[in-house]
Amino acid sequence: ISRKGSGLVREIHEKQSMNKSRQRFWELAGSKLGDILGVEKTSEQIDADTAEVGEHGEIDFKEDAKFSQHLKKGEAVSEFAMSKSIAEQRQYLPIYSVRDELLQVIRENQVVVVVGETGSGKTTQLTQYLHEDGYTINGLVGCTQPRRVAAMSVAKRVSEEMETELGDKVGYAIRFEDVTGPNTVIKYMTDGVLLRETLKDADLDKYRVIVMDEAHERSLNTDVLFGILKKVAAHRRDFKLIVTSATLNAQKFSNFFGSAPVFHIPGRTFPVNILHSKTPCEDYVEAAVKQAMTIHITSPPGDILIFMTGQEEIEAACYALAERIDRLTSSTDKAVPKLLILPIYSQLPADLQAKIFQKAEDGARKCIVATNIAETSLTVDGIYYVIDTGYGKTKVYNPKMGMDALQVFPVSRAAADQRAGRAGRTGPGTCYRLYTESAYLDEMLAAPVPEIQRTNLGNVVLLLKSLKIENLLDFDFMDPPPQENILNSMYQLWVLGALNDVGALTDIGWKMVEFPLDPPLAKMLLMGEQLQCLDEVLTIVSMLSVPSVFFRPRDRAEESDAVREKFFVPESDHLTLLNVYQQWKSNQYRGDWCNDHFLHVKGLRKAREVRSQLLDILKIPVTSCGYDWDIVRKAVCSAYFHNAARLKGVGEYVNCRKGMPCHLHPSSALYGLGYTPEYVVYHELILTTKEYMQCVSAVEPQWLADLGPMFFSVK
Ligand code: CDP
Ligand code: MG
Repeated sequence: ISRKGSGLVREIHEKQSMNKSRQRFWELAGSKLGDILGVEKTSEQIDADTAEVGEHGEIDFKEDAKFSQHLKKGEAVSEFAMSKSIAEQRQYLPIYSVRDELLQVIRENQVVVVVGETGSGKTTQLTQYLHEDGYTINGLVGCTQPRRVAAMSVAKRVSEEMETELGDKVGYAIRFEDVTGPNTVIKYMTDGVLLRETLKDADLDKYRVIVMDEAHERSLNTDVLFGILKKVAAHRRDFKLIVTSATLNAQKFSNFFGSAPVFHIPGRTFPVNILHSKTPCEDYVEAAVKQAMTIHITSPPGDILIFMTGQEEIEAACYALAERIDRLTSSTDKAVPKLLILPIYSQLPADLQAKIFQKAEDGARKCIVATNIAETSLTVDGIYYVIDTGYGKTKVYNPKMGMDALQVFPVSRAAADQRAGRAGRTGPGTCYRLYTESAYLDEMLAAPVPEIQRTNLGNVVLLLKSLKIENLLDFDFMDPPPQENILNSMYQLWVLGALNDVGALTDIGWKMVEFPLDPPLAKMLLMGEQLQCLDEVLTIVSMLSVPSVFFRPRDRAEESDAVREKFFVPESDHLTLLNVYQQWKSNQYRGDWCNDHFLHVKGLRKAREVRSQLLDILKIPVTSCGYDWDIVRKAVCSAYFHNAARLKGVGEYVNCRKGMPCHLHPSSALYGLGYTPEYVVYHELILTTKEYMQCVSAVEPQWLADLGPMFFSVK
């Protein structure tokens, strides 16, 4: 499948450099402030009125003979949810009809694989059934989720169903955020959190049951947990493990756990009419917007769900939809029905994410524009139309460049089917695939590649080593990662001093395991301790662990840039972050001060929280270097010398080891200030239009030779 860049995304970006359109997006997203994210994009202002009025309905779809029945819609089943009490809703779920049999199978078996369509009640009900069946009398019921959003939103839903405060009987834990208490019996958490808990308690004694939810997603942490929990189950007779899966690779899970029984929840889904595009689609963002407009104007009631790859496309699509509706409204006398446009992606703030669950006002249609987050982890009722672009973003690790990149790939057939299925939850629906049937059959992979086979394994290697798994190539992986990736990650850890020459954990390595951080950040903390600038380094690490705190509203871009520049420490973005935090601190951590200085107060508060949690882990007195910040840059250098680059031209560097080009980003403190250090280190390399270095600090060449002797020496 070929993918050309979306012309629509480019066009909208250009328009968004104008004040009002950006604001309009946030109005759509339901935010009055429009203050959440400032995407860095600069481009010329262009005429907004180039597109034609009411563009829609040109894509040619092939009818699927199997499902050419005519669809009756309009009996808004989603109203069901609104009109029934929570208890009645629970009884309406498919899993309810098999509750007793399911509990019986769990009583009789240590490991059970549960398969059911999305929305059948696995995530919200299983934990409650286990609680009702007495499993929480002597232990916790834990439920892991690959995504933070899901862990939080599901815990909230279940706390409502159980009529308890969130954090009381039902709670959740994600990295740097633990909302559980002494009364908690049902704990939702990310798989990463449970994995870290195995460090402290290898047998997970406080858990009576673990539900590994969304196992089919095959997230990195879930895959490692498979191997670890298999051992726990072997050690502990009283321990139960339930693995849930939306798709049908359940047999694989069952085999891995020694032929564990597979329990099927009968589905209650409606047929979905699947239509493929007759020709490959050049600009799927444009095509999706057109298709949504066509549905909205010509099809019976029912909400729309569009799958896109990421924030950028979602924002562009939402904006284009709103604009076309506006234009249609002003160009016709007839009433144009309302369209409630709702974006959802993981970086969207939680309160805005929650909006997708709200019911649209009477006569209005919802149109949710989502990433693959809405494939399985979040269920929205009332969707009758799915528009599938056929693409999704996947994180892939490039071992040669030692870099993770989020890249757009065609989704797998399993994912495409899952997407289509979302249209048949409340009634018979339609799925518009913006790709051909032959692309589906011949070009898409049957199932997604598990994350463990395509990602940086630094943290996993560190963790497994600390669990005394000497030979990683022998670990019981369901699908082992490529040997090259393991060896590469081990090399990186050796470079950082976490592993010794025979691949065992060093003292530094043992300390690094303690922190829920990527190995280089953990190394930076330890160096801060050694170089007596822990206070400063703690702040930098915390600031790097939260989303960017700089706020750049479209309509006040220049003003905010000017304010931001005042924080700049010319030789370092890391020190700039430190400077921002310290100034906030000396202004009593005030919120109004943040607003005046174009800083996100939420982000800074989060950084403060992370900071205090890291301090708790360190358990040592904090040392400060005062204002001798050169030493702080040295600590930064000790963690990132593998990302060192040498000056080549204006704003242009080359990576010292691999020779690839690296560019200063216009938002960097080092950019355009007439200060161009010979050597820099950077936090990470991001591929957008160019290879941009993210968070850069100038370093002395001598430091590189001292701290990274395996790579550098002074000539
Ligand atoms: O896990 P599974 O996909 O099988 O279903 P679930 O997430 O337990 O969802 C069961 C029902 O709870 C769905 O009908 C959702 O609409 C509802 N739900 C909700 O209203 N709010 C949530 N945050 C999660 C689920
Ligand atoms: Mg679920």
